Amino acid sequence: MAQTIQGIRGMNDVLPQESSRWQFFEQVTREWLAAYGYSQIRMPIVESTHLFIRGVGEHTDIVEKEMYAFEDSLNGEKLTLRPEGTAGCVRACIEHGLLYNQTQRLWYTGPMFRHERPQKGRYRQFHQMGIEAFGFSTPDVDAEVIVMLADLWPRLGLSGMSLELNSLGDIEERAAHRAKLIQYLEGYIDILDEDSKRRLYTNPLRVLDTKNPDLQEMAENAPQLIDFLGEASKTHFETVKALLDDAGIAYTLNPRLVRGLDYYNRTVFEWTTTQLGAQSTVAAGGRYDGLVEQLGGKPCPAVGFAIGIERLMLLLEINEVAIPAQLPDAYVVHQGEAAARNAFTVARQLRAAGLNVIYHGGSGSFKSQFKKADQSGARFAVVIGEGEVASQTVNLKTLIGEQQGKQEIVPQDQLAQVIRSI
Ligand code: HAM
Repeated sequence: MAQTIQGIRGMNDVLPQESSRWQFFEQVTREWLAAYGYSQIRMPIVESTHLFIRGVGEHTDIVEKEMYAFEDSLNGEKLTLRPEGTAGCVRACIEHGLLYNQTQRLWYTGPMFRHERPQKGRYRQFHQMGIEAFGFSTPDVDAEVIVMLADLWPRLGLSGMSLELNSLGDIEERAAHRAKLIQYLEGYIDILDEDSKRRLYTNPLRVLDTKNPDLQEMAENAPQLIDFLGEASKTHFETVKALLDDAGIAYTLNPRLVRGLDYYNRTVFEWTTTQLGAQSTVAAGGRYDGLVEQLGGKPCPAVGFAIGIERLMLLLEINEVAIPAQLPDAYVVHQGEAAARNAFTVARQLRAAGLNVIYHGGSGSFKSQFKKADQSGARFAVVIGEGEVASQTVNLKTLIGEQQGKQEIVPQDQLAQVIRSI
């Protein structure tokens, strides 16, 4: 026997017993996205590496160490498997002129790739559903996208999600804070670990994100960005909070919430859970008013978020959320050559009438076929033997519910109608 080939570490198959959960999520979110007026956009999985260096930020963990970047072996182009969707979405909008004098509310879904250390809730290929709202500078839209997620959780049958909120201010405010922060961190240069030293001048905010217990006190007492916000940023943030209060949505202000991507300004947020251990963030996003211009478009304010679908799948599983099953209406059982041919036709007729039907492939004893019919979860077994072929009828047997075991003879041309009526 040939040696088997394994899947790639951190990249998962979604098996049939799990896929109904994914479909449930897709169905619920489609209705939810429509309720908020979002249209779908589909971008390629591969983009130019420059897009992410410029978009996500040269000194982020994603760009520094997690990108699946490679050269196209045919023409040497530098390409990357997208680590996230925002940069590609902005690229597509600029390229196709979607942002001229108009607003856009867009959503996308699909696989993203980050070379991280795999663990529960963290994978190298994972899936996001993201939304991006373009052309809105006012805080009502920040609040709307946050409220939108609050509205999603009960639709999915989930509760107990927490919202963390921060404002990163605007570029000048960040620059002033950054200068003060570097000065502060330089005072601790002797105790900073290698990672923090490396980030001190490239991405000092990320130094505060350190998990190193020896650095916690230093991080907690560092100058906070929130104290550097100017009037406009402050008012913007106050309005977001007021709208959340009006909507009855609780939140925790987290001045250390800085996000791992460079494009954000003003509002940033994360929806978290205590049920997933270390990978606690289920959805995250914020405002990014500078990115469109940074990627070559005319200035255009924007705000958005992405949901980590694998993490949501884990939550649905842990909370035993009941997933509506797509069970077949009928399983067609047959015996003998003529019956098999007739059953093949009957199955097609039932499907044409809108029913979900499994035709028993091949042959087998009635007993083994009925066993398969039971396992399929079908409501009915449609039984065709020689006698039924001759009389153009079927024996319709109820497999589940109160009428379980009931059998009746039904003419083939009335079968779909009878099944529907029960
Ligand atoms: P992000 O925080 O990098 O933001 O990712 C969003 C979500 O994707 C995370 O909260 C998490 O649920 C999920 N996620 C991230 N990495 C992994 C992984 N390795 N394995 C499993 N799930 C993961 C963004 O990507 C931004 N583009 C969001 C955004 C859209 N901001 C504005 N618009």
